[in-house]
Amino acid sequence: MQGSIFAVTNLLPAPALEMLRGAGELRLDERETAIPRPDLLELVSGADAVLTLLHDRVDAELLDAAGPRLQCVANVAVGYDNVDLEAAAARGVLVTNTPGVLDDATADLTLALLLAATRRLAEGDRLVRSGRGWSWGMSFMLGSGLRGKLLGIVGLGGIGRKVAERARAFGMKIAYHSRHPAPAEVVAALSAEQLPLEQLLAEADVLSLHCPLTPQTHHLIGAAELASMKPTAVLINAARGPVVDERALAAALRSGVIAAAGLDVYEDEPRVEPALLELDNVVLAPHLGSATVETRTAMAELAARNAISVLSGQGPLTPVASQ
Ligand code: DGY
Repeated sequence: MQGSIFAVTNLLPAPALEMLRGAGELRLDERETAIPRPDLLELVSGADAVLTLLHDRVDAELLDAAGPRLQCVANVAVGYDNVDLEAAAARGVLVTNTPGVLDDATADLTLALLLAATRRLAEGDRLVRSGRGWSWGMSFMLGSGLRGKLLGIVGLGGIGRKVAERARAFGMKIAYHSRHPAPAEVVAALSAEQLPLEQLLAEADVLSLHCPLTPQTHHLIGAAELASMKPTAVLINAARGPVVDERALAAALRSGVIAAAGLDVYEDEPRVEPALLELDNVVLAPHLGSATVETRTAMAELAARNAISVLSGQGPLTPVASQ
């Protein structure tokens, strides 16, 4: 591994950078926003491993720009919809992600959105700051409670499970729809009922999305799905923006097809569908799911360990699911 080049596309927490410096040559772009494509292609040229973020498109062009030395793409995210897995496999490049280490942080943020949407927190904050008059009243800014309500989870993986655990502490009942059946002990611990998606949509009081973005889940929630939900329902998306048809969601929120939504992710980040910005019944966060000091450090360290492990011939620690 001596002389290996680790190309890192953005500034990462220091402990991860130290690990990489200790293992080879670190080639780092210190910008904290997505670097322009030409700079990205130049940065990866001749690298043995590349550490990428979710806004870096890893496709045939990038893999070819890296060249034949490239052995590993370590994506610093649990999602890897930015990576063309077929193109990587065709070139013998291993792809890793960072599962597990961000489950708690993302579940916390999901609950924050859920509470903010059901209790109209962002709308209330805007009202107080506006200086417009308000006074306590029996029917002033009523939201909806959680106890006894049904939380429908789409994708009962690591994050979905943590969301369910937290929601149980608020007295919610859990139902889920997942590509793969969850382990029996998980389902039993959560008293979770597996439902077909159509039934989950029709019965959930809160629907929370935790599935990966794939061709199958693109616009999983569109106008027809929203129309099949309860008019009192709340939709939460802390997964990937394109799982929801944003324009259809804005129309549904505007016309009362569903009651409210909480979003952490968008179809074309950082752009947000303008119609959503005008609505009071949607809470909007700027993709903060894993944004804690501890979690981002753990994600970067896991990505660094993956890259080092691959280059030292020990194989990936957390290869993406389909490898
Ligand atoms: C992930 O890891 O996929 C998250 O979206 C990053 O915040």
